[in-house]
Amino acid sequence: MTTETFDDKGDTRRDFLGKTSLMIAGLASIGAVGTCLRLIKPNVRYEKPSMFKIGKAEQFPEGSIKNLVDERVVIFSDSDGIFAISSICTHLGCTVAPVEWGFQCPCHGSQFSLDGKVIGGPAPRPLEWHEIIQLEDGTLAVDTAKSVALGTKYIFA
Ligand code: FES
Repeated sequence: MTTETFDDKGDTRRDFLGKTSLMIAGLASIGAVGTCLRLIKPNVRYEKPSMFKIGKAEQFPEGSIKNLVDERVVIFSDSDGIFAISSICTHLGCTVAPVEWGFQCPCHGSQFSLDGKVIGGPAPRPLEWHEIIQLEDGTLAVDTAKSVALGTKYIFA
């Protein structure tokens, strides 16, 4: 009986199909192991939630300024209401510090007026203003995922 060779190495067609099958099975196994390893890692986000409570409205008397450093938001209260301005610099994201005349960025010197408009430095846009809502229990909450127009102030009972 003669065996027909498939290539110069003397492999038969059966050898070729066997090796190819092994190679495909190996690649599939690697893919399956990769998928299983990915499932071990929980698919959760470790970021802080965008909405957080800031307290009751009476904790923000007219003229008050509350700098929430961890949340990177400054809460102001004036005769027109309560408002939340982001302390994230619109240049490269450093945390700006509230100062007497507005906000100062320590990184590259951007300056913002009290309402967040750019008055100096490389920042391309004003600071964001964020939505404030009142929860059912009367507590106020800021949602940093929701921006509102500059000058948006809230009055709560
Ligand atoms: Fe604020 Fe550059 S990050 S000026």
